[in-house]
Amino acid sequence: MTSVVLLAAGRGVRMRSSRPKVLHEAAGRPLLDRALDTAFAVAGDPAKVVVVISKKDAERDSSNERATVGAFLAANHPRVRIAIQDPPRGTGDAVRAAAAAGAFGKAKTVVVLSGDVPLLEAGAVKALVDALAKDKKAAVAVLTATLPNPTGYGRIVRDKKKSFVRIREEKDSSSSERKICEINTGTYAFDRAFLEKSLPLLTSENSQSEFYLTDVLSLALKAKRKVVTVSGDPGAALGVNSREDLAVVDGLLRERAVRAAMRGGTTIRRPETVTLDETVVLEPDTTVEPFVTLLGKTVVGSGTTIGQGCVVKNAVFGQNVTVRPYCVIESAVVGDGCVVGPFARLREGTDLAAGVHVGNFVETKKAKLHAGVKANHLTYLGDTEIGPRTNVGAGVITCNYDGFAKHKTTIGADVFVGSDVQLVAPVTVGDGAIVGAGTTVTKDVPRDGLAVARVPQKNLEGGGAAYRARKKKS
Ligand code: UD1
Ligand code: CA
Repeated sequence: MTSVVLLAAGRGVRMRSSRPKVLHEAAGRPLLDRALDTAFAVAGDPAKVVVVISKKDAERDSSNERATVGAFLAANHPRVRIAIQDPPRGTGDAVRAAAAAGAFGKAKTVVVLSGDVPLLEAGAVKALVDALAKDKKAAVAVLTATLPNPTGYGRIVRDKKKSFVRIREEKDSSSSERKICEINTGTYAFDRAFLEKSLPLLTSENSQSEFYLTDVLSLALKAKRKVVTVSGDPGAALGVNSREDLAVVDGLLRERAVRAAMRGGTTIRRPETVTLDETVVLEPDTTVEPFVTLLGKTVVGSGTTIGQGCVVKNAVFGQNVTVRPYCVIESAVVGDGCVVGPFARLREGTDLAAGVHVGNFVETKKAKLHAGVKANHLTYLGDTEIGPRTNVGAGVITCNYDGFAKHKTTIGADVFVGSDVQLVAPVTVGDGAIVGAGTTVTKDVPRDGLAVARVPQKNLEGGGAAYRARKKKS
């Protein structure tokens, strides 16, 4: 049986952020979520995973604007256990806090993972557990990696026979130790009984005055037990300590997401310019043009094209939709065969049924447009429902806000709304009605009615020429 301890209590000072480091996101997912994926795969059950967090991060006060790890776990992973480390005094101290919270149980093996190593795969951790189990004398197995630039990591110090001697933190190391390129990934499998015995023996005699978990490995050698090192993939070892590290991890994951999309049947022109969260779903035979950003829980149906420069978050597109360039779309549903843009903005609560056309410089919010509605130019549709086949002319505005509250505009089926019409909500236009261009609609329009509200036009015979003559003289 294996228990997993996930360390996430560090202050993450190098991030310079009020947000806990492990809640920073890469490719649309918090670092902690990725580490938990690995932890769950290794433990086989979220209830066998203990996350160590600081007292400050355990607050769950919803009135507190600051995102906390405690609130994140409660909302997304309610079955994981939490151990509080107060105050955080190093990785060894963090594992002590987990032990004190009864995290190990009677497990044979305790796996320790860092919340800030997001590219680690479960397979590598399982290999570590196997390596520990294979060797009766082994007290610890540690995952190492050889990096061209090992700056910042703890180094694996070996003797002349290449046997493991100790892990030396960069801050405590000599200049010759700094040249070592084999590093500690911060991933371990411990013999539980040995770990329990060793934790009370840790001291904080080092440059950071912290209790280092890495010292448990030296204690193993002292106790005539073995330390097994397993060399892993350098690409998976990346630890995130700064925003620069975060950008590297984010870039790698997004590149992977783009490649996976292409393998899944999406045509991506200029893949290096496309930004995809890995939570985005692209069905086969979709096309993503250059400089597109697709985020969150976006789903793109088969046959759909997302045009150049669009920014999309949490939107669902049906099949054969054409989104022309430079649209901004968030929390919207776009039905089969719709044509959107260029330069359209679909905001939260937009729901377009099949075959709707929304053209350039049209903004929609909480707008339900039934099948075949056309609103092609320079329009604002907010808090509105529009029946099938209705045509909305250029420059139509729903006046949904009276300075105090939002009101609804309801337009029926087969309506013709002329250009430059204002609909002062709350107001209803019946099925089959016609609203003349330039009308300000303040009263309901009956079914099949015709509404016009304009100042009558005067024509002055020769008035234009007389005006020009006057201007020339003055
Ligand atoms: C640690 C290792 C280093 C290794 C590197 C790999 C130690 C002493 N050093 O260094 O050998 O190369 O990871 O990425 O272990 N944490 C707590 N409580 C604390 C301190 C840290 O929970 O009191 C957590 C952090 O949130 C983080 C993890 O432990 O998730 C590692 O801590 P960090 O301070 O980032 O250690 P590194 O300096 O990166
Ligand atoms: Ca780290």
